[in-house]
Amino acid sequence: MKILVIGTGYVGTTTGLLFCEMGHKVTGLDLDEKKIKSLKSGKLHFYEPGLEDLLAKHISQNHISFTRNAKKAIKENDVIFICVGTPQDKNGDADLSYVKSVAESIGTYMNEYKVIVTKSTVPVGTSGLVSKWIREKQEDKIKFDVVSNPEFLREGSALHDALNPDRIIIGTTGKKAMKIMKSLYEPFACPTLETLPEAAEMIKYASNSFLAMKISYINELAKLCDELEINVNDVSKGIGMDQRIGPAFLQAGMGYGGSCFPKDVSALIYLAKKSGNPLTILESVVKVNEEQTSYFLKKIKHALGGKLKNRKIAILGLAFKANTDDTRESASLYLIEKLMAEQAEVTVHDPVVKWGTTYQRESIEETVKGADAVCICTDWEDYKKINWTNLKSLMNQPYIFDGRNILSKTEMEKIGFHYMGVANG
Ligand code: UGA
Repeated sequence: MKILVIGTGYVGTTTGLLFCEMGHKVTGLDLDEKKIKSLKSGKLHFYEPGLEDLLAKHISQNHISFTRNAKKAIKENDVIFICVGTPQDKNGDADLSYVKSVAESIGTYMNEYKVIVTKSTVPVGTSGLVSKWIREKQEDKIKFDVVSNPEFLREGSALHDALNPDRIIIGTTGKKAMKIMKSLYEPFACPTLETLPEAAEMIKYASNSFLAMKISYINELAKLCDELEINVNDVSKGIGMDQRIGPAFLQAGMGYGGSCFPKDVSALIYLAKKSGNPLTILESVVKVNEEQTSYFLKKIKHALGGKLKNRKIAILGLAFKANTDDTRESASLYLIEKLMAEQAEVTVHDPVVKWGTTYQRESIEETVKGADAVCICTDWEDYKKINWTNLKSLMNQPYIFDGRNILSKTEMEKIGFHYMGVANG
């Protein structure tokens, strides 16, 4: 099948390469000249482990090509995946302007039956809008079907997640489109849910919000555990052993960030309020998450004697999680902002993110040199492998604040650190 992927971010690029792996011919379309130039030359314009090798492979075998020519790309392909961004607008709702402009281009240029698939995370009802926007631009009433096929891959493990999905959700009212979508996903062994577009759209928001809820639940519980001197990691393990709960997304820390959870939870809250059925649980999920860096800051401040002014704090990690260069809504940035407001002197390190400020140092050693405390803000593998005995000798004071619970309190105390995690022993 000839597949067009519109939007070449990490969802679009991964989706395109996934279909190349399944033996299809793929075109990636984006308006951004720099992105297209980079992808054509086999270089990703974002950091995602494993993806660049696959890109090089499929470019060399002519399975994937990239273009800015919307007219030609839309005419030449049978199935069109919309993978453009849906950022948050000022009300907390999703901004659909990119989706709208893509739908209008499809309406303008389509020449024969097409299946138009929304992969971007979009509010309930967007499939109907996409149909309307396409129809409004059509000169001849050519048939098409719209499908909602949400994506569940994570940044940092996009390729693995795309190749090994837990489930595939296909929401459409079109029989022909359902048949085409099912054949596209036939090689996957996981279950497929056939449903209506609105339910598919809701499934995506409800999934992300549920995972965010698990994180806020464990983070709030961690505060209580901290008070009662209970190790929250043991509690996560213990409750996660119940198959009805499951062990995933119960890692306590500085709170969730990224381009998805904060935006999607907020969009679902907005939708619920608008329809007169507020989701109070999710409102609390957001509140707990927003308070998590303040809670952590309070602990740091207390441990360092109540004052942070002129204290040298070394921050390890800027990305919102490991294996990505994405800092959107990163808890690390929120903590840095708060430390700076307290007039602490901050130095930062990240193995991949290039922050472009004078606070960033190239190496971990340079970052912690003369520091009164180290704060671990991202769960990078590099930080788990640090030789802490060596690092301690470079510091002014041996304090570690582990915002991701990646180290062992016992081990750190053996080396002579004052260690504090998030209810981590
Ligand atoms: C999330 C979902 O996990 C994907 O299924 C979904 O496809 C994606 O959003 C999306 O909507 O595009 P992502 O934002 O890439 O993926 O990253 P996650 O691995 O979900 O992590 C989100 C945040 O939660 C990170 O800040 C992470 O550090 C934090 N987190 C995660 C915790 O604090 N504790 C945990 O136990 C798990």
